[in-house]
Amino acid sequence: MSRIVFVNGSFVPYEEASIPIMDRGFLFADGIYEVAAVLGGRLVDNEAHLARLDRSLGEIRIPNPYSAAEWTRLEEEIVRRNNLAEGLVYMQVTRGAAERDFAFPAEARQTVVMFTQPKNIRNAPQAETGMKVITVPDLRWARRDIKSVGLLAQVLAKQAAAEAGVGDAWMVENGHVTEGSSSTAFIITTDGRIVTRPLSNAVLPGITRVAVMRLAREAGLAVEERLFSVDEAKAAAEAFVTSASAFVMPVVEIDGAPVADGKPGRHTRRLRALYFEMAEPEAKAA
Ligand code: PDD
Repeated sequence: MSRIVFVNGSFVPYEEASIPIMDRGFLFADGIYEVAAVLGGRLVDNEAHLARLDRSLGEIRIPNPYSAAEWTRLEEEIVRRNNLAEGLVYMQVTRGAAERDFAFPAEARQTVVMFTQPKNIRNAPQAETGMKVITVPDLRWARRDIKSVGLLAQVLAKQAAAEAGVGDAWMVENGHVTEGSSSTAFIITTDGRIVTRPLSNAVLPGITRVAVMRLAREAGLAVEERLFSVDEAKAAAEAFVTSASAFVMPVVEIDGAPVADGKPGRHTRRLRALYFEMAEPEAKAA
């Protein structure tokens, strides 16, 4: 776990970083987080992540401790200090530490934490084979548009997937897929239309989702924002998920049933390639 992390204004070795036990993030999940990818040493789509961070904070009335420019500088510094070429930057802001009491404390300073995680995004082995998913009931609260650190439902969903020997769980509400446990779910119909759920309080507004929808339209593919059922997903021509941590990941099996021939689909592979071109333009030129 050794690395340089950021805690409340300082860059320190992980072993020296600490948070008070009264931190409201720890006691109440009273905080929000953000995850941005790093590719070729550079942050991917970072402005959009910082805009969502600001919105999440606003929705739970935690003042944003930094401007977007300040956040960017801190992120770039943590990337540099950890020599991170490919992976993730994690940022978390909580309402801070105060005597345990549910209502907002009169006085508390936000706790701000950042760390990096190296991750092989480009050469993820799962991108070649595709990922299997199971479906689970969506147990989450009514404001899933906020990137809350209250992630217990997703922890249980991911654990169910791990115990089933698959890569992820798609969460389902009223027969319709909401999203992956930490990703946006997409299907592609047999007539080549890309379908994903519209934004609402039921799902996180994925940053990768927006970019992939734009890339799909630019590539001449039709994009439809509407609900889709588990049965429709099982009968789809292709399926995939998007997230900052995996970009575009093919889904090849749902609840044990193969999606089409059980291999990553052609449009999905194209969208993955287009996303990498967008995220790392100089790699394309090389
Ligand atoms: N999760 N939906 C949920 C519930 C998520 O947790 C995430 C991201 C997404 C995709 O959003 P984006 O494209 O902005 O990463 C959708 C991050 C990666 C995480 O929790 O680690």
